[in-house]
Amino acid sequence: MKFTYVLPLVGLTTAFVLPEQQVFSELAVESHRSAHSAFDKLPSKDQVVDQVEHSFEKLAGKFDKAVKCSKHALDSAIDYAAEAGNDVTEKVQKTGFDAASWMDSTAHLGSNGHHHHEPNQTLYQLISTSKYTTKLAAAINEYPDLVVLLNGTIANYTVFAPVDSAFDKIPDKAPKPSKEFLKKVLLYHVSPEFYPAGKVLVTHTVPTALTVDTVGVGPQRVSTNIGLKGLTVNFYARIIAIDIFGTNGVIHGIDSLLVPPPNVVDIIQFLPGEFSTLELGLTKTGLIPVINDTSAHIGGTVFAPSNFAFQKLGPKINGFLFSSYGQKYLKALLSYHVVANQTLYSDAYYAVDSVENTDIPKGVFHIDLPTLLTDKSLSVNVVRYGRIIVIRINAFSQVTIEDGIAADGVIQVVSDVLIPPKRIDRMEQHYRGEELTVEDLRERLEPFVENFEL
Ligand SMILES: *[C@@H]1O[C@H](CO)[C@@H](O)[C@H](O)[C@H]1NC(C)=O
Ligand SMILES: *[C@@H]1O[C@H](CO)[C@@H](O)[C@H](O)[C@H]1NC(C)=O
Ligand SMILES: *[C@@H]1O[C@H](CO)[C@@H](O)[C@H](O)[C@H]1NC(C)=O
Ligand SMILES: *[C@@H]1O[C@H](CO)[C@@H](O)[C@H](O)[C@H]1NC(C)=O
Ligand SMILES: *[C@@H]1O[C@H](CO)[C@@H](O)[C@H](O)[C@H]1NC(C)=O
Repeated sequence: MKFTYVLPLVGLTTAFVLPEQQVFSELAVESHRSAHSAFDKLPSKDQVVDQVEHSFEKLAGKFDKAVKCSKHALDSAIDYAAEAGNDVTEKVQKTGFDAASWMDSTAHLGSNGHHHHEPNQTLYQLISTSKYTTKLAAAINEYPDLVVLLNGTIANYTVFAPVDSAFDKIPDKAPKPSKEFLKKVLLYHVSPEFYPAGKVLVTHTVPTALTVDTVGVGPQRVSTNIGLKGLTVNFYARIIAIDIFGTNGVIHGIDSLLVPPPNVVDIIQFLPGEFSTLELGLTKTGLIPVINDTSAHIGGTVFAPSNFAFQKLGPKINGFLFSSYGQKYLKALLSYHVVANQTLYSDAYYAVDSVENTDIPKGVFHIDLPTLLTDKSLSVNVVRYGRIIVIRINAFSQVTIEDGIAADGVIQVVSDVLIPPKRIDRMEQHYRGEELTVEDLRERLEPFVENFEL
């Protein structure tokens, strides 16, 4: 179904050029040099966030005035977002963050959730009476249980509410989605947890009310991202109005529908600009159907090397891996990037065998993730500091784009192909970025290749 794919992919493609990712790549280069340099670099990023918050506060004052003159909170938030327009575009260029797009529409970040107007309507009432969300309201009204949910007070919910123009982006020729699918789409816009803007800002992924069997024990999540387009959800839906509080939660307005994502391998196939080499490798080695077999795994994590990561291996190694002789080595190497049954987001971790899902705490979170390569685990450190999260694999490679949300797991993009450790005497020595020859790589992969029949 085309409709399912168009929207997420447009957004994910542009994600690969976001300035934040460049910051992280630089961080990656730095951290090769010194074990602590990741920390050294953090304050500069932090300063950027400070700057963002500062300009936010100025705008918040203006916003209050706008709200006072208007009866409907959701309408006035969106009106204001539209009017404030280009006010702070200059800042955007300086910081690389489109602070404007979400801050100038905003109310109350940093004021501990304090707001001046005590809400007297439920989220459902706000949505169904706003002139900007008539299409969303009509869609919700098709599902009485959703109405009850969003009008009830058993929890404080968060709704990413697509404004009417978001529905116009659906291609005219798109087939009409089934009622069942549309309900999934709607549930994907609702979080059963309370995420006012200040919390969204320091969050990387948010659980939604949508559960899918293939992602396993946890709910399907959305990712939040800061980049050229401002604060976005799943890389493409811009948050255009924030912190419209109801009696049972909070609404943020977005400019695109959030479509539940396809499987990991589908996302990889749809992004040739980033993953054509990986895709070729997975296809040649027959791993596509293995990874895509959702009856054999529940959730998972794929560390996906970008085309650039493969390039860094040089022509000799690539020539070898992609020759017919090198094929079984390539299969072993790629299997080392695939983790089944354990889904590691940058701020949450779900495992099939674990009773509890874990929110990844501040500080350092360490986990060994078993790969499809027998007996070989990846040693992963997630270092968290406010919104900034650095994920390091085998103390060397770094995740450069986090949390590519998929239906059957998550994609973490790595800037280096992950090289299995070398056995020296009885010790395993991790790859540290030293020059790699074809012979060296073969030696590392040799113990695993006999297992494969190709
Ligand atoms: C909610 O409060 C506003 C004033 O803040 C008022 O104009 C409006 O009539 C109230 N709505 C309801 C449903 O009570
Ligand atoms: C929503 O809840 C309010 C009370 O909070 C109630 O007055 C109203 O009738 C409800 N609306 C629907 C459609 O159930
Ligand atoms: C929702 O938030 C309000 C205001 O903070 C609080 O009074 C209420 O107890 C919360 N409701 C639930 C179900 O947590
Ligand atoms: C992956 O599996 C899904 C169904 O589970 C299917 O729709 C999709 O086409 C498959 N993708 C590939 C690349 O085989
Ligand atoms: C993943 O979990 C499923 C179901 O529990 C199990 O059948 C499968 O063997 C597991 N796969 C791996 C690679 O551990």
